[in-house]
Amino acid sequence: MKPVFLTQFLIEEQRANGGAAPDLRLLIEVVTRACKRISIAIGKGALGGVLGEAGTGNIQGEAQKKLDVLSNDILMQANEWGGHLAALASEEMEHPQMIPEQYPKGGYLLLFDPLDGSSNIDVNISVGTIFSVLRVPEDMKHGDPEKAFLQPGVKQVAAGYTVYGPSTILVLTIGTGVHQFTLDREIGSFVLTQRNLRIPEQTQEFSINASNAHYWEPPVKRYIDDCLSGTDGPRGKNFNMRWVASMVADVHRILTRGGVFMYPLDSKTRAQGGKLRLMYEANPMAFIVEQAGGAASTGRERILDIQPTKLHQRVPVVLGSREEVETVARYHHAEA
Ligand code: AHG
Ligand code: MN
Ligand code: MN
Repeated sequence: MKPVFLTQFLIEEQRANGGAAPDLRLLIEVVTRACKRISIAIGKGALGGVLGEAGTGNIQGEAQKKLDVLSNDILMQANEWGGHLAALASEEMEHPQMIPEQYPKGGYLLLFDPLDGSSNIDVNISVGTIFSVLRVPEDMKHGDPEKAFLQPGVKQVAAGYTVYGPSTILVLTIGTGVHQFTLDREIGSFVLTQRNLRIPEQTQEFSINASNAHYWEPPVKRYIDDCLSGTDGPRGKNFNMRWVASMVADVHRILTRGGVFMYPLDSKTRAQGGKLRLMYEANPMAFIVEQAGGAASTGRERILDIQPTKLHQRVPVVLGSREEVETVARYHHAEA
């Protein structure tokens, strides 16, 4: 079988479904090329001097790792000159960045989490990059650039993530299913390795940081207790548990073999609205998961329907196998 490289995939996708217009294709190629550079930097590890703290903080109040800053710089530089974007926004930058004056502007907005799972960098566990693409709204020219980004997740035209793990993979949707590519390190190209990923509708595996149990709301407590009581409990089956603490890796496992991922609202994060960020973590993952036949909810509403009010807004996240996400939502509604 001849390998199908990302470019060929995108061109054929456009011919078949009208999916990736040339400027969207350029955008995806530029983002994924930047991800290859990030993958190379991560792969060098201690030899590349990229581990450890940057000694700075971001707008989220989080200490930045050197790789958070480096990955952000790589994505910013890669995306400013191509003429495909009007503005970019990142977890690591307080405000959106307009494309510099000397370059032409395009019809898309790009949001990213340049390095997801940064607590895992120094222990050599998988990390990743998450991105989301929106169209520039009609009124952006004169308005506040931040406002232009505040569109619900249903408006995304593309979303993807990479996992820098034992191999580097790219998972991508342009609204026509979810497709997986693996980086051929010798050639330096992403090669299609799985078309149309589908998440199993049922599962016996959950993913949650159980050290937060004493902060959880009653519906989450009840749901996890019922899972833990196994065949003797109301669920009538045993559950397995996994938590990598890199959303990209946890979501990728769920995409591959099913499961439910939860970072619910709890008393620790209530004041901020949750832990994970809506615009560049929850929305792109929700788009991918729904495109793969799964579901993504806050426990109380569909994530993709949320009208954002702030660029760095946080949100509770429950996503994965459709029937299990619906079960978690039922626990929440029962308590309402
Ligand atoms: P980031 O490294 O981009 O700040 O994101 C970390 C997120 C997410 O990847 C992961 O699921 C979660 O934080 C882990 O949180 P805990 O450390 O609370 O388990
Ligand atoms: Mn993240
Ligand atoms: Mn991050």
